[in-house]
Order: sequence, then structure tokens, then C-alpha cells
Amino acid sequence: MLLNKPLTLKLTQLKVTNFRNYPYADIHFCPRINYFTGANGMGKTNLLDAIYFLCQGKSYFQSNDKQLLLHGQDFLRVEGWFEKDEKRFPVVVKLQTGKKKQILRNNQPVQRLSDFVGELPLVFIAPDDTLLIREGSEARRKFMDSTLSQLYRPYLDALLAYNNLLKQRNQLLKMGGDNRAPDHALLQIYAEQMEQPAKVLYQHRKAFLSAFLPVFQDIYQAISGGHERVQITYQSDLNQEEFLSGVHKQLRKDLILQRTCFGVHRDDFLLDMEDQPVKPYGSQGQVKSFLISLKLAQYHFIRQHKNIAPVLLLDDIFDKLDPRRVDQLLAFILENQFGQIFVTDTHEERMAQIARQLGEVHHAFRVNEGSLTQIQLV
Ligand SMILES: Nc1ncnc2c1ncn2[C@@H]1O[C@H](COP(=O)(O)OP(=O)(O)OP(=O)(O)O)[C@@H](O)[C@H]1O
Ligand SMILES: [Mg+2]
Repeated sequence: MLLNKPLTLKLTQLKVTNFRNYPYADIHFCPRINYFTGANGMGKTNLLDAIYFLCQGKSYFQSNDKQLLLHGQDFLRVEGWFEKDEKRFPVVVKLQTGKKKQILRNNQPVQRLSDFVGELPLVFIAPDDTLLIREGSEARRKFMDSTLSQLYRPYLDALLAYNNLLKQRNQLLKMGGDNRAPDHALLQIYAEQMEQPAKVLYQHRKAFLSAFLPVFQDIYQAISGGHERVQITYQSDLNQEEFLSGVHKQLRKDLILQRTCFGVHRDDFLLDMEDQPVKPYGSQGQVKSFLISLKLAQYHFIRQHKNIAPVLLLDDIFDKLDPRRVDQLLAFILENQFGQIFVTDTHEERMAQIARQLGEVHHAFRVNEGSLTQIQLV
């Protein structure tokens, strides 16, 4: 997994005003590892979310920006100073009730979010991400889509085009109720327009998985100590049948169910451990190891593609891992070129032990009801 000196994205300072349970905070970060410790509900995850919000222009958890405003407040502001390729620049994200969200990069307004997000790469590993394994196929498609969209612009374009056409085709199918047949010719036109983006998505997903799988498996082996065999299999309607003939064959079903029943929107990535699906059989620690490996493999590809080490946010990841896996994970983090890391844990003692084991330059903070104090971990 080693690369020749990738650049590193570093967040050196963060100022937040009225973000979730933080009225105000102004923090200087370490370029390597930053630890946050505190009891449940104190604001550890919120702080990582503020960093995500700054880099991606949206929350990792909340699609509704209004929920990010400190209760009773009508504006919020998150400001950060970044270092990248020896350049230092500020980014500010501002939100005010009734106004459009504003993002300033180096004091210049950002016009399009899609141009901005790729510039400040980061990978967030959060406890709820286990839904990626435990939930239905949508979560896994989203994971692959967000990874591939960051790596290949044509993939993102195909994804937007396909989803847009699918939405229109499904709307048309829904209009077919009440004994009115929807316009078959128009249904066919939508299918024909969907064919090309469907192929792009299918081919990228297939090719990417064959590159992703060995990296993922290596990471899983490193964390688990080689205890379990893990596998990811790409499942797609297009494995069996060409797009247009598949859609054509499903037309009757489409008309009854009023939605498109064939296509890459139904793709899934099957996650197996020892030839059994992880979802019903995996233990909590195994599921967590699986998830961490998926995310670290994602990190690997983003770093390789952009030649910059993304910021890594590790929220509560040591919980449910046995001491051996924690050690193996730490060894893995040390041996590979991760850039700046932000880690949270409720156990201050465990955090201190981790800091000692990693032996890296670090800052540590105690989080208490939306305020932070810098501490010495001992
Ligand atoms: N918009 C908001 N305004 C004020 N408080 C908020 C807002 N959104 C969330 N909170 C509060 O933030 C707290 C949760 O913070 P957070 O999730 O960061 O805790 P945590 O330290 O990560 O806890 P845990 O160890 O349980 O994961 C809750 O008390 C919640 O009520
Ligand atoms: Mg939390």
C-alpha cells in the first residue's frame, strides 16, 4: 500500500460558531494525530462532522442543514485553515436561515459544490456506517458510487444521467394507473437513453471491484490477523443480460409494479466471510473490521488517484474490537501512509494507551458539552 511520498492535506486550525452543540470553538490541530475524548453526548462526533462539513460543504449525518444550527440560533459558521502542497488557505462555510449556504475558498465564493468537494479529500469512519453492511443494497451502491464518482468524472456524469432518466421513466410508469396505459414508445425511448450510462456504470463497477478487492482483502487480513476469508461479489442484472433486451423482457412487470425492474439501479455488492453473508452471520467485531477495511481501501484509492493523503476521521472505531485487532489496526495505520488523523474515543485511558503505542506526534483534547480543553494523555 506504500506510495512514493503522496502530498498530505492538513487542517491546521478550526473555528466553529453555532455548529450543533458548539457555541464557539477555536482549535489548533496537530499535523499528524488529534485525539478527542469525552463521555457520551459531549460533542466528539459533532466536531468531526464540523470538519466534514468544512471539506464537503454538507454534514456526514444530516441532509437537512437546519439541524446543524445550535438550537435557538439562526446562523452558523465553520472556518478552517488548510495546508496542501506547501500552500496555506482558508475555507469558510456559512449558513443563515432563509439564505443560501455560502462557501468561500481562499476568500473567493465557490460557485459549484461539485468543483469544491474533490479538493479537500477526506474519509470518515463512523459507527453507524455498519449500516453499509447491515442494510439493503442501496447503502452499498452509494458507497461504491461515492468512491467511483470521486475517482472518475465520466462515472459521475453517467450516474447523474442514468438516475435522472430512471426517475422520468418511473414517473411515466406511475402515470399508467387507472387503466391508462403509459406511452410505450416513450418508455422505450427512455430505455434507449439509459443504455449508454448503464453500460458505463456497469463496466466501471466491475473493473473497479477487481482492483478494490485485493486491496480490501489485504487490509482485512492485516486487521484480523488472517483469521477470516472475506469476499465481495458484484451482482448485477447486466451480468445475465444486455440492458435493452433485459428492460424489454421486464416490461409487463414494469407496468404492473409501476417501476423499472431491470437495470444497474438494482446492483448489489455481496459481502461474504468464510463463504457466508456477513450480514446475518458476522459478529459485531467482524462487521466492524469489515467496515474499517472497506473504508481504508477507499482511502487507498482516493490517495492513489489524487496523489494526496486525505484527512482521516475515525469516530469510535476501537469499540467492539478485541485488543489484538486494535493492535493490528494501529500497526497498520503506522506502517501505511495515512496523513492527518482525527480520532475519538469515550475511554481516555484507552486513548492514552493508543497514543503511547502509536508514539506519533499528537494533540489531545477533552470534550465537555460543546467545549474543548487541550490535555496531556498519560
Ligand atoms: N443542533 C444542535 N444544537 C444543540 N445541540 C445539538 C445539536 N445537534 C446535536 N446536539 C447535541 O449534541 C450532542 C451529541 O453530540 P455528539 O454526537 O457529538 O456526542 P459524542 O461525544 O460523539 O457522544 P457519543 O460518545 O455518545 O458518540 C447531543 O447532546 C445532542 O443533543
Ligand atoms: Mg459520537
